[in-house]
Amino acid sequence: MSTLAVVGAQWGDEGKGKVVDVLAAEADLVARFAGGNNAGHTLVVDGVKIVTHLVPSGCTYPGTRCLLGAGMVIDPEVFAEEIAQLRTHGLLEQDELRVSLDAHVIFEFHRELDALREDASTAQKIGTTRRGIGPAYEAKVARRGIRIRDLLNPARLRERLEHNKRALDPEFARFGSDRSVNIDALCEAAAKWVDWIGPMTCDAGAEVLDFVGAGKRVLFEGAQGALLDVDHGTYPYVTSSSTIAGGVCTGLGIGPTLIDGVWGITKAYTTRVGAGPFPTKLDGEQGDRIRAAGGEYGATTGRPRDCGWLDLPALRLAARRNGLTGLVVTKLDVLAQLPAIEICTRYQDDLDPGRDGFDDAVPVYEPVAGWGGAGWAEQVSAARSLEQLPKAVRAYLDLVSDYVEVPITLVSIGPDREQTIRLTPAF
Ligand code: GDP
Ligand code: IMO
Ligand code: MG
Repeated sequence: MSTLAVVGAQWGDEGKGKVVDVLAAEADLVARFAGGNNAGHTLVVDGVKIVTHLVPSGCTYPGTRCLLGAGMVIDPEVFAEEIAQLRTHGLLEQDELRVSLDAHVIFEFHRELDALREDASTAQKIGTTRRGIGPAYEAKVARRGIRIRDLLNPARLRERLEHNKRALDPEFARFGSDRSVNIDALCEAAAKWVDWIGPMTCDAGAEVLDFVGAGKRVLFEGAQGALLDVDHGTYPYVTSSSTIAGGVCTGLGIGPTLIDGVWGITKAYTTRVGAGPFPTKLDGEQGDRIRAAGGEYGATTGRPRDCGWLDLPALRLAARRNGLTGLVVTKLDVLAQLPAIEICTRYQDDLDPGRDGFDDAVPVYEPVAGWGGAGWAEQVSAARSLEQLPKAVRAYLDLVSDYVEVPITLVSIGPDREQTIRLTPAF
């Protein structure tokens, strides 16, 4: 096996950054295929916390190629800042970055529109990250998007911006805003971006093929999670991209036969940030306890995440939509801090999340036997093999794996690289 896709199997923030960082030690190329800086992926290297938003989480390994695919939306201002930030950690000093010519660009007018819509009293509030993600993908589908390749051609860029101005200035006015698309200022800014983005540009699909053809190992890094997928998530409370494994193909321009395996990441419990259905959400003290134990605040926006028990029907749906070959369970150490836990094994009235959706789902919980005890949480964090985990924790993992019908390939018991139990080789 020489390629592996790693995707979120819930509503995002499952620990993709940590897991990709661990697996990237063996990879030659790490490629992001979807999303933009709505993502916040946390890596902890030698106790130092690094959060990536656009740059793939393989960036901590000197010489490992990091590729941003065509399925992404890239805000050049954020990208520049992130590269500068990573360089303060001594990273990205070896020409590791490549960017697809076909990725779309987020401009300030996309960010402004995102915020105006979220703030409008009449709007259907999604609780977006306000990074301009929705408006940029919308422009792409409306065929007025501006791609990285357009930045390299000033006449074409101006023409595309004019097209956007005609579409968007009236929309700003409808919101009562005096904003408008400032073509001259944006052309000026873009001329500067080209100086440093230009040398990184590539055909992302060809890049992946080159690596695979040379027998190199490639990781595909997902962003967000299956239930935020624009087609298969809790629509309309979703992001605007294909977050599932199918997005690897469209987002990089490669065929499905190039994906050797797909690992889905799930927390040992569930979190969600933003609006939309979340059947196992715990209100009040119980949810607060998980949030406090897990430090559940957004890596991008700092918003508190809603928390709840693990939702097996939702996870099984995610496993099927992704064709998972492996399941990664993170934050077991957090769950182990709770003296007693429950797990959702079905919804009332036999409601099926695939067929019936999530809107009316009422979870049915089962207590998890034998959970908790003196020294229990410490034992979980210190474990470096399955055998070192308490028996009830292993039973919990078996329950999840049996229900979802996917083998567990890796278990995470803390944010550090070392706090990882690997069960199956990635490649
Ligand atoms: P991502 O978006 O999927 O990359 O996840 P985020 O980085 O947004 O959120 C995951 C958070 O959990 C980060 O703060 C990680 O450092 C942290 N984390 C990841 N795995 C574990 C784990 O096994 N235990 C604990 N305690 N924290 C973890
Ligand atoms: P990572 O990669 C969690 C959510 C937002 C909102 C919805 C739409 O770190 O797991 P958007 O700004 O994309 O238009 O917002 O999607 N969302 C995420 N939630 N983790 C993420 O990324 C997310 N990216 C978007 O909170 O509900
Ligand atoms: Mg995140």
